[in-house]
Amino acid sequence: MGTEPLGFGRHFTGHMALARWTPEAGWSDVELSAHAPLALSPAAMTLHYGQAIFEGLKAYPRADGSLSLFRPGANAERFNLSAARLAMPELPPAVFVEACELVASADADQVPRGPGQSLYLRPFMIATEPSLGVRPALEYLFAVIGSPVDHFFADGHQAIDVWCSSDRIRAARGGTGAAKCAGNYAGSLAVKAEAVAQGCHEVLWLDAEERRWVEELGAMNFFCVTRDEGGAPLLVTPPLSGTILAGNTRDSLLRIASDLGVRVAERPVSLVELTAGDGRVTEAFACGTAASVVPIGAVTTKERRVRIGDGHPGKITTRLRDELAAIQYGLQPDPYGWTHPVPGATPAPVGPSV
Ligand code: PLP
Ligand code: COI
Repeated sequence: MGTEPLGFGRHFTGHMALARWTPEAGWSDVELSAHAPLALSPAAMTLHYGQAIFEGLKAYPRADGSLSLFRPGANAERFNLSAARLAMPELPPAVFVEACELVASADADQVPRGPGQSLYLRPFMIATEPSLGVRPALEYLFAVIGSPVDHFFADGHQAIDVWCSSDRIRAARGGTGAAKCAGNYAGSLAVKAEAVAQGCHEVLWLDAEERRWVEELGAMNFFCVTRDEGGAPLLVTPPLSGTILAGNTRDSLLRIASDLGVRVAERPVSLVELTAGDGRVTEAFACGTAASVVPIGAVTTKERRVRIGDGHPGKITTRLRDELAAIQYGLQPDPYGWTHPVPGATPAPVGPSV
């Protein structure tokens, strides 16, 4: 990989884990093999009707050389919610976690260990049955691949500018917004290109019905900090209403913030409130596994560009990012039971044994 930055999702580790499903046999055992191209019929149903779901979680390197996954059980549960929405077979959560452990453990020597680096694991499921019938497929492949990654944004600690388009939406009530299915991301790409053309990094998504309420930010959840009359900060994130993906990072930050004594609220945030420029919204950030916590410096709409706070990462944003990273990288104890050691990736004890 030379001296070039790793980037995000550009390099892959040596192994992958695979399992297959049919109605008669259910899931096969998970098998570890070399990371290699898949053989797929051109009639495989995933290619035509989009039965494809995925997850994203990281194995974090620790100072003692071991690796730990972050809340893999939560990803396994969300995977099954996505599967149910796309009429795909559920996978026992223990099998999901085992497959992640297998890849992380087999490729522990390929996990980068610099600041902010980790092994991103990408579990996914696709419909492999060759058929053009418009119905749930009868054959599926589940796989986990691994990618050594840097922070998602090249300049990870700077505040990003976001583009709010009221023309196109990510998810509508009753749709697939709360599932992690491939089509949601395909539909977002043209809008992301629009954001980039506007000089912004990501898209701020509004609700489909009123085009008034902030829902998500790119492929991340959205938070802001507001001040009430007395000046006390309140950490706010939109409620999970069926159109928002229930992020593990979102859930973890809500918990960490309230344990730090920050008041939290899950309530709707309007674009008007966010861009009022009246000083009430002092910070905003996005969060997700890939990018962790990303400060938002400004919001651009068709009409104007509004700076959030002083345009720089806010105090609460920075504190939450540091607290979360300290737990994930094992720099401080995990009082929540979120960290999950990767078996077999634990180094032999160093020094004389007593
Ligand atoms: N929202 C969307 C649409 C996502 O794709 C993701 C990433 O998985 C998130 C939010 C954040 O979820 P998590 O914190 O579990 O990574
Ligand atoms: C995440 O894992 O945080 C994501 O946003 C997934 C993305 C890379 C598609």
